Amino acid sequence: MTQILTINASAPQLDLLAEAAAVIRSGGLVAFPTETVYGLGADATNAEAIERIYAAKNRPASDPIIVHIATLDQLAGVAVNLPDLALDLARSFWPGPLTLVLQRHSSIPATVSAGRDTVAVRLPSHPVAAGLIAAAERPIAAPSANTFSRPSATTAAHVLEDLGGRIDLILDGGSASIGLESTVLDLTSDPVVLRPGGVTVEQLRALIPDLQVRSQYLALDETAEAPGQLIKHYSPRAEVRLFDGDPVAVLQRMQTEARERTAEGERVGIMTIETERLTFGDIPAEVISLEADAAGMGAHLFAALREFDQRGVQVILARLPAAGGLGTAVRDRLIRAAEGRILRVD
Ligand code: TXA
Ligand code: MG
Repeated sequence: MTQILTINASAPQLDLLAEAAAVIRSGGLVAFPTETVYGLGADATNAEAIERIYAAKNRPASDPIIVHIATLDQLAGVAVNLPDLALDLARSFWPGPLTLVLQRHSSIPATVSAGRDTVAVRLPSHPVAAGLIAAAERPIAAPSANTFSRPSATTAAHVLEDLGGRIDLILDGGSASIGLESTVLDLTSDPVVLRPGGVTVEQLRALIPDLQVRSQYLALDETAEAPGQLIKHYSPRAEVRLFDGDPVAVLQRMQTEARERTAEGERVGIMTIETERLTFGDIPAEVISLEADAAGMGAHLFAALREFDQRGVQVILARLPAAGGLGTAVRDRLIRAAEGRILRVD
């Protein structure tokens, strides 16, 4: 049985935080809202609790988990040999959607980091996340609260859909506001972004001019297509097909594709932007429109992918948005969801 407690997102009730913290302290699993996505939390110092995270998510043991802390003081208890840059970044971007990969402290079991001697650390800004970690009086390991390879959960309903019956408690604090996961920045070598996210590469370059970005998924749209070669990730059940290129040509191509597929009896989903919604009005497809700006799009992207599954579509047609700012993270998630299926339209 999974218990659900509704909690005030901006001023979480202390008794509810204490109840959830007791579950964490006894080795249980608690899903909780953060400003990025919902996390599936366990005591980061308890190896058995960590095993339960991998099992509940069907997550491969090779995929390391982020450790969440509530104060900067806690950092020295989870990571060692901190570079000065880590503290500069922490002061600039914490609390917030930035995860730093550092050298792991021995108090954090190796299984948290899939056996590596590093640890990914984040200090979230969401009052429920911060309050839970503080009440538990220990760091909390938390991957996104979805079944492995599914879109991340941005509401408690998404968590229940994937993990209901498999975890002890869900703290329902409403929708996650950013909707995209944190930026993962590796500081154990020359600084490199491993996953673009809520803090933009441009923001980081202000502090790290020579910052590298090494997401295999982002490189993909510059090179040949390689569908099927990507690890399936962020994926709805429906097949995602992306369109990239001149905006007018892309719109026409999406309309043509949607007409052809619906004519053949396929159940088609179209993910578009609000200003273009009406141009799909005569096509018998499921249309979900998002805000045109990257922040608005990012906030509702995962929810939209899950909604298409609810509506039973077989294929989702979507435009690949421009890179830059949060658009870089949106592109990364869409390319992964599409497993690299991108059609270039000229
Ligand atoms: O916004 C977020 O980061 C959310 C919330 C809950 O904080 N968490 C999240 O966790 O997205 P997860 O497990 O879905 O993604 C963690 C990412 C993975 O890409 C993982 O490979 C990387 O962080 N990661 C974790 N530990 C790492 C490590 N020691 N070295 C390199 N990458 C690591
Ligand atoms: Mg995840």
